[in-house]
Amino acid sequence: MSSKILKGKKGIILGVLNENSIAWEVAKKCKQEGAKIIISNAPLAVRFGEVKSLAKEIKVPVIGADVTKIEDLELLVDKAVKYFKGPFDFVLHSVAMSNNIRKKHDYTELNYEYMLKTLDVSAVSFHKLLQVCFQKNAIADWGSVVALTYIASKRIFPQYSEMADAKSLLEGISRSFGLHYAAKNKVRINTISQSPVKTTAGGAIAGFDDFWNYSDQMSPLGNASSKDLASFCVTMFSDYTRYITMQNIYHDGGFSSTGLTDKVISTFNE
Ligand SMILES: NC(=O)c1ccc[n+]([C@@H]2O[C@H](COP(=O)([O-])OP(=O)(O)OC[C@H]3O[C@@H](n4cnc5c(N)ncnc54)[C@H](O)[C@@H]3O)[C@@H](O)[C@H]2O)c1
Repeated sequence: MSSKILKGKKGIILGVLNENSIAWEVAKKCKQEGAKIIISNAPLAVRFGEVKSLAKEIKVPVIGADVTKIEDLELLVDKAVKYFKGPFDFVLHSVAMSNNIRKKHDYTELNYEYMLKTLDVSAVSFHKLLQVCFQKNAIADWGSVVALTYIASKRIFPQYSEMADAKSLLEGISRSFGLHYAAKNKVRINTISQSPVKTTAGGAIAGFDDFWNYSDQMSPLGNASSKDLASFCVTMFSDYTRYITMQNIYHDGGFSSTGLTDKVISTFNE
């Protein structure tokens, strides 16, 4: 189903790694809804991963950029402005990485070099990306920027470890930059707090399958899929959400407002 609500819009989707990536669903949906897009990932992921074949499938360009490097982000934004022949309308930041989680370091035994890298890739990069766009006037008036987050920024899920701290920072940057970008170009900046999804990044969390099932049973509507998230991102990029900014919006089937469900309580009677 398509209503072409992004017809005439142009945007960049960062974080397409493989078919399971949330960003891949969003890229496909944006195209389906009539947008012109560029997809991006770290140069190594572009060179050795599936990104190019995915781009070929939906006929969009790929531009490599390490989100921690300002020079890469400047090149990405310059190339995008050239390709779109002017400023673009939306950006998705769908990027996260933690070597402490990958290497199974407990939260009480963090490697701090890894932690700084986690914060840089998963949160500070959002500021870098916004600052580059801001200084280059690269986002059109009333543009929309979205980054993806998880409720562990506010409530503790032990296995989510330092990524919880990265997500808190990411949400803070969204609010802080949202004020400045609204004043300059009416650009809106939001984070979407999504249900768990089985992806490369998600799957790195210890016990992910049990965690996914728990979340599904604690969500009155069940876990939201990445396809549904893609539809919501499209809504956020469209002109139907022009006055939503500096928000963290839950797209989680009701999980964030639920204390207990019959499904979960029944497991204690087994
Ligand atoms: N999967 C979940 O359960 C879930 C839930 C809520 C939020 N999120 C968030 O959604 C976003 C996308 O994650 P995903 O689950 O689709 O996993 P994913 O592994 O497919 O995506 C993460 C992306 O980050 C990219 N990346 C890592 N380091 C980078 C760098 N230096 N420069 C550029 N790109 C880099 C990876 O290549 C990858 O494409 C993340 O922010 C994640 O925290 C995921």
